[in-house]
Amino acid sequence: MTYRGRHLLGIEPLHPTEITTLLDLADSYVDLNRRAQKRSDVLAGLTQINMFFENSTRTQSSFELAGKRLGADVMNMAMQASSIKKGETLIDTAMTLNAMHPDLLVVRHPHSGAVDLLAQKVNCAVLNAGDGRHEHPTQALLDALTIRRAKGRLHRLNIAICGDIAHSRVARSNILLLGKMENRVRLVGPPTLIPGPMKDLGVEVYDDMREGIAGCDVVMMLRLQKERMDGGFVPSEREYYHRYGLDAEKLGHAKPDAIVMHPGPMNRGVEIDGTLADDINRSVIQEQVEMGVAVRMAAMDLLARNLRAEAA
Ligand code: NCD
Repeated sequence: MTYRGRHLLGIEPLHPTEITTLLDLADSYVDLNRRAQKRSDVLAGLTQINMFFENSTRTQSSFELAGKRLGADVMNMAMQASSIKKGETLIDTAMTLNAMHPDLLVVRHPHSGAVDLLAQKVNCAVLNAGDGRHEHPTQALLDALTIRRAKGRLHRLNIAICGDIAHSRVARSNILLLGKMENRVRLVGPPTLIPGPMKDLGVEVYDDMREGIAGCDVVMMLRLQKERMDGGFVPSEREYYHRYGLDAEKLGHAKPDAIVMHPGPMNRGVEIDGTLADDINRSVIQEQVEMGVAVRMAAMDLLARNLRAEAA
């Protein structure tokens, strides 16, 4: 098993073999999670602190479950009720927690780069649970595991990532990961939601949805991130759904066995048709959630091994 890093801050620094190591280990945690007794003790004695400065359902709950299933002592900081509200800086809060000797710090923050900065200040392993528009590495890893299990491989696939690319750390981490594993990635959406420099990442860009998903193996939808928009990026949600919302007719242009993905939270009737999202023959959205717990277990397990090796 090789995973070199002390932290998991993004997909960008990872080597393809590290990605494979992580996914292989996550596969074994999928099996554990399907058993009646879901307990391991690989994190026994370690303290995990979750600091979420932004709302989260799936990511926070799965990091918490992952830590508990591996035997860690898990604390969720209620950031809304913390001293950040009294003007304490991110770094001061982190240094305070650092003095309590956590081993694993899971951080989500609205500012790109905030998690990297924090990782430089603390002594423990830091996992990025999403920073601004920058990276969301465990999301890309859980998406990769979902794809690998559904398609039997994670290379030479045609994958369309559709919608609000501009505001999406999920898109960025996925583009990096899928590119490293030698897939063909297409970005599909209105030009206002696809930043020009994306072309430098080796992707193809389409503004016509049917053309963009034609012949694809995987269609990954993204939420319109209105909380990150400070102006009108789309004329109206109705118009957006008409042109870019995924429904059965548009999906008909992808391969007959193409899978449909969405990281959640979904806006039904905005980026995706509700019936299609619930269609268990096409949609793997629930599998993505299941893989999320396993991937986070694998990531924390590998980081804890490195912590132990460092201490020895
Ligand atoms: C995403 C996020 O927070 O980046 N959700 C998630 O982690 N599953 C995507 C989103 O908010 O749309």
